[in-house]
Amino acid sequence: MAYLGSRKLCIQVEKLCLELKNIVKVQSVSVKSVGINHGFCRPISTLVPRHNQIGDIQNGNCAIKNSRLLSSMLPNQPGSLLKENIDPYKLLEADLKDIYSDIRQKLIKSTNIEELQTIATYYFDGQGKALRPMIAVLMARASNYHEHKDQLLASQRQVAMISEMIHSASLIHDDVIDQSNFRRGKPSVNVLWSQKKVTMAGDFILAVASMMIAQLKNDNVTITLSKVITDLVQGEFMQLGSRETENERFAHYLTKTYRKTASLIANTAKAVAMLSGADDRVAEVAFQYGRNIGLAFQLVDDLLDFVSSSETMGKPAAADLKLGLATAPVLFACEKYPELDPMILRRFQEPGDVERAFKLVHDSEGLNQTKFLAKKHCNEAISLAQSLAASPYQEGLIVVGDLVLNRIK
Ligand code: FPP
Ligand code: MG
Repeated sequence: MAYLGSRKLCIQVEKLCLELKNIVKVQSVSVKSVGINHGFCRPISTLVPRHNQIGDIQNGNCAIKNSRLLSSMLPNQPGSLLKENIDPYKLLEADLKDIYSDIRQKLIKSTNIEELQTIATYYFDGQGKALRPMIAVLMARASNYHEHKDQLLASQRQVAMISEMIHSASLIHDDVIDQSNFRRGKPSVNVLWSQKKVTMAGDFILAVASMMIAQLKNDNVTITLSKVITDLVQGEFMQLGSRETENERFAHYLTKTYRKTASLIANTAKAVAMLSGADDRVAEVAFQYGRNIGLAFQLVDDLLDFVSSSETMGKPAAADLKLGLATAPVLFACEKYPELDPMILRRFQEPGDVERAFKLVHDSEGLNQTKFLAKKHCNEAISLAQSLAASPYQEGLIVVGDLVLNRIK
């Protein structure tokens, strides 16, 4: 295996990734041993998405078309890991096109307080990437196919909605904590309404999502999705202000990243697989796929914070440093520039810390090493997806690995 920069830190990171994988592993099964395809082969015509699945992307009415904008996450970018021509968003057009309006309706129907309706629906405007529902529906359809079933179940689509609702509720709370000004190119929710109201609106979304989970009437799915919420809170808590030592830093960062970002994608993928009737081994493949995609997504996010402009991101650049956070690029850069150590400890609070750290990260191999680690997780996700029965949805899951790695915002 090729290493960029320090071999010692890379080996440490690899060991940590493995440990984290074992900690979060729910069932002790080897993903390599998953039965592939069951010798089951479908006529080629069923591998091509049906007309009504593609939908009419020309009609301009569809929320997902706006949400996706087919720009920041185009498949097959230069440096692409694969050759597939599948665009998961097009493939799932019919499943996803009403997802934001369905969430808005659900929230609006759940209260007659107009202002609460307005705040709670503010982020469901179709401007997000809808990454979580997209992965949920892809995994649902891929698992259904693996289980020789054709239709997306209503319960699986509900899980896709729930995942986006939990995500948005957490973003609202996060914007209050980070005192952010912008999200997705518009004023963040806390700028427009008081912190008290905004926090309540986040709680409200979470409460409605919890009712939707209960209505699925499936204990294992309830436990799986509830775990996401405890992970999110712990992940955010871990980020708030711990003073871990240099040795513990990467382990802390990876655990925090799993809890804050990957757990939602992993457990949602597992939930839809369980709903398809998949056995424990396939549910574990779904979980590990989501875990790897989630870790890669956050690593790329942490990288983009150093390389993407604020216009592209719709939020200020170097935001993490300004918030006092040492993410993967800084932790890697620290190997070459130990002067980052005291800055990390004082959370980049002294004048000039943010600018100096930003420069040192760019002068180091930290960004390449972060991309390298993200790629490793994407490759792992891709090989997990390849262990599912071949279908357009399985290919879509493979393409997602590529989208996550090559996204620009
Ligand atoms: C974005 O982080 C934030 C999260 C992914 C999770 C935040 C979780 C909480 C606030 C715990 C409460 C959870 C619930 C469910 C109410 P970021 O600041 O790194 O990303 P950003 O740049 O998009 O803000
Ligand atoms: Mg934030």
